[in-house]
Amino acid sequence: MKVLVIGGGAREHALCRSLSQDPAVSELHCAPGNAGIAQVATVHPVDQLDGAAVAALARQLTADLVVVGPEAPLVAGVADAVRAAGIPVFGPSAAAARLEGSKAFAKDVMAGAGVPTARAYVCTTPAEAAEALDAFGAPHVVKDDGLAAGKGVVVTSDREAALAHAAACGQVVIEEFLDGPEVSLFAITDGETVLPLVPAQDFKRALDGDEGPNTGGMGAYSPLPWAPAGLVQEVLETVLQPTVDELRRRGTPFSGLLYAGLALTSRGTRVIEFNARFGDPETQVVLARLETPLAGVLLAAATGTLDTLEPLRWHDGAAVTVVLASEGYPADPRTGDVIEGLDEADAADGTAYVLHAGTRADQDGRVLTAGGRVLSVTAIGTDLAEARDRAYRGVARIGFKGAQHRTDIAREAAAG
Ligand code: AMP
Ligand code: GLY
Repeated sequence: MKVLVIGGGAREHALCRSLSQDPAVSELHCAPGNAGIAQVATVHPVDQLDGAAVAALARQLTADLVVVGPEAPLVAGVADAVRAAGIPVFGPSAAAARLEGSKAFAKDVMAGAGVPTARAYVCTTPAEAAEALDAFGAPHVVKDDGLAAGKGVVVTSDREAALAHAAACGQVVIEEFLDGPEVSLFAITDGETVLPLVPAQDFKRALDGDEGPNTGGMGAYSPLPWAPAGLVQEVLETVLQPTVDELRRRGTPFSGLLYAGLALTSRGTRVIEFNARFGDPETQVVLARLETPLAGVLLAAATGTLDTLEPLRWHDGAAVTVVLASEGYPADPRTGDVIEGLDEADAADGTAYVLHAGTRADQDGRVLTAGGRVLSVTAIGTDLAEARDRAYRGVARIGFKGAQHRTDIAREAAAG
């Protein structure tokens, strides 16, 4: 099978790594890729937002499967362009990807499907925003309606700051504050059958102890020893399947990866957000634990045959990933610094490995920082403590100017 992956972050590196280890994959391509992906796939300098160019590349490569990683090409209709060219594609249509692209649309789908989520108002004027803030009280949750690359949500007890964010965004969703731990649960779906993966937890704040600004994610782990037994089945029945059924009923079936961001509140499980793609960095740990070869699973979703698939097999230990970010991330990341120690960070027995996010190779073959989140070290182990230890051992070997990472990824969970 020839597979083309679209995107160039750590999520796509994780996808490419798993696909490169699948004996069914004869050729692996990625556009645009990054310096790490180039070690496992042939990279192509194609604009990932250009559906026609992606479809043309897929046709030229005679790809059997195209996997669209990030949300921006999905929302821009890249999966539609590939599907229109008659090539199986893993990733929802633009119409279904609105589940991530518009928070107001997601709320409407959840209302239609009876999915538990925070009560919310869609507001377009300062007066509406003020009324909604006062209806719920502090802490305030204000979300930009559109895609905002992880910067659209403000949670604050400062009413003026909440109002200012609403004014800056235009249309916002203002909702009740959800307390309790967060869980990310991904499901692979062909629009009918829904196959949940294993739960993971992401660390969104920049600094230890959940301090500092929100980021795209600084680390993740799986499994979640503290999560209630039966959580996956509950979320399948109350969230994932009803949402997939609702989108099919509306004539915009969702096929691809449905990401449920959940809060386990004192009043029950609630959806915080949906994404239309694998989450980053949770994908690094979820795929590290997946033992079933990946290509067949993604192809089954792309071709509407998930109901015929054998149950997924999982590594019964644990996985931890720790992100290294550049100086100044997330506000103003510095780029262009040489990264040392990449080879030393890969464990010889494959239990720990580097996945690249914002990196590029220069003419001399050196790898330079090229983004806010630069790379992550992912490790597996028999339990969280061992996986954590291996991941941090890898992190300690890597150096670049101003590198920052959290030191407490999976610490509490590993300690029980
Ligand atoms: P989102 O982009 O929707 O994932 O939001 C980013 C982060 O904001 C989430 O991971 C939560 O930590 C926080 N957040 C979003 N919605 C709420 C809410 N209703 N109550 C509390 N925290 C929230
Ligand atoms: N891990 C958060 C996200 O992918 O949106």
